[in-house]
Amino acid sequence: MTTRSDSFEASRRRSDEIQADLAVHPQNYTMLTGDRPTGRLHMGHYFGTIRERVALQNAGITTRIVIADYQVITDRDTTANIQDNVRNMVIDYLACGIDPEKTIIFTHSAVPALNQLMLPFLSLVSEAELLRNPTVKSEQEASGHALTGLLLTYPVHQACDILFCKGNIVPVGKDQLPHIEQTRLIARRFNERYGRVFPEPEGILNDAPEIPGLDGRKMSKSYGNAISLSATDEETAKVIKKSKTDSERLITFDKENRPGVSALLTTAALCTGRTEVDIAAEIADAGSGALKKYVTESVNAYLAPIRERRRELESQPDYIVDVLCEGNRRANEIANATLAEVREAMSMVYC
Ligand code: TRP
Repeated sequence: MTTRSDSFEASRRRSDEIQADLAVHPQNYTMLTGDRPTGRLHMGHYFGTIRERVALQNAGITTRIVIADYQVITDRDTTANIQDNVRNMVIDYLACGIDPEKTIIFTHSAVPALNQLMLPFLSLVSEAELLRNPTVKSEQEASGHALTGLLLTYPVHQACDILFCKGNIVPVGKDQLPHIEQTRLIARRFNERYGRVFPEPEGILNDAPEIPGLDGRKMSKSYGNAISLSATDEETAKVIKKSKTDSERLITFDKENRPGVSALLTTAALCTGRTEVDIAAEIADAGSGALKKYVTESVNAYLAPIRERRRELESQPDYIVDVLCEGNRRANEIANATLAEVREAMSMVYC
């Protein structure tokens, strides 16, 4: 029997092999990944995945990003603010270096043929497989909401996101690995039943340390421990100032026992390229006030060019709409072609 940690090791190994090949054969890879438009992107997103997407794009890999608007309603009852969230997500991407000439940015809801893949794909998975997805389970528990049909089946919808454009690499965090396994299974079963149409995609695991939120837990808007890319310098100073440290004056890096202090050190380390230990030694017994001041300056300096570009983009709302319309148009072309192949493979072409 393979345990989950065996399969994690296998994913890690395959991910490392692909990482090495990407630079040599960029033309062999199509990246698809995405985000739910539930709020602003924060530094956790940036260091966790956005920075890597930009690098893949610039290395000549074919790149596509889905703004996963249908995933917003997996566990909530409203689409309030979705317009604003989608527009700001496009602004965040562009400000971070995503180039719409190279990378297609699109939304689920604008690409009918992508969504139609859901029907044949649902026939390829069992109820038991859907119910045992650990990420779905924990999301359902965290939301305190009933398990909706869409939450239960969204990993299959995510397979549609990846496979409509024949994505073969998906940069993801660990929590998304079960979904990649699900996608691989769907691709394999489809190909076995109907002939080869889809690649079996691989997850690319990020090497960057997971950026902690300001309290040492994972950075997440819902924990209130996140620094948004779009925050002002003053807002950034305020959240950092509010973050919880401890009463010990001497600053040391100790994740286990001093999560707050250590999270601040990691944040500054990511922004300055220095190590946590080095920064801690410099602050020494100047205490958490001095540490917070240093973190605030490092974060604001690091984000300054992104925020500057953000402000420029905010003043061009028509351009942002154009980027999205063009992305949706191109995604529809690809999705229509793939759906035609699927119909052909399934002998469902009648006229
Ligand atoms: N579920 C992902 C998240 O919450 C977003 C997403 C949607 C995605 N479709 C995807 C990620 C396809 C990778 C591939 O972050």
